[in-house]
Amino acid sequence: MPRLLKKIAVRTGLARLDSGVQKRLGRDYFYLRAYSSDVLSAPVNDLELLEALERAAHDARSQDSGSNAGDALVDLSQGMPDLANFFHLPAIVQSSFLRAETMADLQKYPRAFGHPAALASVARKIAADTGVAYDPASEILLCNGASQGLAHALECFVDPGEAVVLFDPCYLYYPWLAQTRGVRVRRVGGPKSRINQRELERAMRGAKAVIINSPSNPDGTMIHAEDLKLIAALAERHNCIIISDEVYSGFCWSQKFTSIANIPSARSRTVVISSVSKSHGLPGLRAGWCAGPSALIRPLAMLMSIRVPCVSTLVQEVLPELLEVESRFAPERHKQFLARRDSALCQAEAAGFKANKPDGAFYLWSKVPDGFSSGYDFARWCLERCRVVVMPGEPYGPSGKGMFRYSWGGPKESFAKAMQRIQTTKP
Ligand SMILES: Cc1ncc(COP(=O)(O)O)c(C=O)c1O
Repeated sequence: MPRLLKKIAVRTGLARLDSGVQKRLGRDYFYLRAYSSDVLSAPVNDLELLEALERAAHDARSQDSGSNAGDALVDLSQGMPDLANFFHLPAIVQSSFLRAETMADLQKYPRAFGHPAALASVARKIAADTGVAYDPASEILLCNGASQGLAHALECFVDPGEAVVLFDPCYLYYPWLAQTRGVRVRRVGGPKSRINQRELERAMRGAKAVIINSPSNPDGTMIHAEDLKLIAALAERHNCIIISDEVYSGFCWSQKFTSIANIPSARSRTVVISSVSKSHGLPGLRAGWCAGPSALIRPLAMLMSIRVPCVSTLVQEVLPELLEVESRFAPERHKQFLARRDSALCQAEAAGFKANKPDGAFYLWSKVPDGFSSGYDFARWCLERCRVVVMPGEPYGPSGKGMFRYSWGGPKESFAKAMQRIQTTKP
């Protein structure tokens, strides 16, 4: 239901008659009037399902070391690469946290953009990975994971009622962020083969921003170099901001990673967003950054300073060494994960699933087996009958209907165990 209608239904009391509202709130219906339009437009069904999957996945992790580890749940739903053996996290945390300066810094509010040392380390990483130079003093901003950067970038550049262009399928947070902000979504076919220029041009005409994510979650597609140029040219023609989510830049299998900001005309209108959640397998650290021309980063920093003032000093202290150590383990990460991708494809095929060879990231994206009506239906069956957690495809966009996403980035044995369980459990 559109945002405005929902609001009218709530304000007039008609929403009380809705069975979903009755089921969720019952006598607490009173509180509905307290909720803002942003909350009222949240994708409640999907969020409830995700909450259930997340709870199951969390239980899976706590059961792992328990006595019944043999039949513990296996979580393939979350994108958490297992990189524990690539660097010694405790040593890095200890040496960064126990410094006298850190203790002193904890007694002050961190600087709005970030500490100079952390900003400089991000600039060095981006320059080494992509060849794009950013001034750490004015063109980089730290945030609490890529998620915060994405949310504030949308808030900073796109007003309710304006449009944002997304590729289909795409990371489910993008449409959710848009939906809760009242931003219209225009979807164009994903870059699986090549982008359709006419379709993209139609979508970008009058749109305020386009979000790209290469390699992509959920299907691991990478945008072809010529298509990056096309996006850059159309963004310039239609005066669109480009938000480039580059969290999977360290996981590229079919081609070298290229940031759209490498294209000179794109750099001046692109905000690059990334984090250590995937590159280092540290989603719990919540260490992320935005990079772009200062005319885009400054307002973003201003907005962030009002919303969530800054990133914890502890995170900022540990970031330089984490980024430094990545340059040493990146070649081994590439070698091992490339081999794991091929092995995951074979295991999935043996379990009866076909998936395109992903160009990047660490997911497989497959059709649900015959007999299941949707990705939701299959995810529920996997959870209840196989004790395996996978993501239904539907929240990722229209092309996710009847699909599911499963991660092979976690511990190797988990993926093998999950495929074997699914293979031996009859629907
Ligand atoms: C494409 C994409 N962007 C952003 C994120 C979230 O990153 P972070 O943990 O840094 O907030 C994810 C997490 O799965 C993702 O897949």
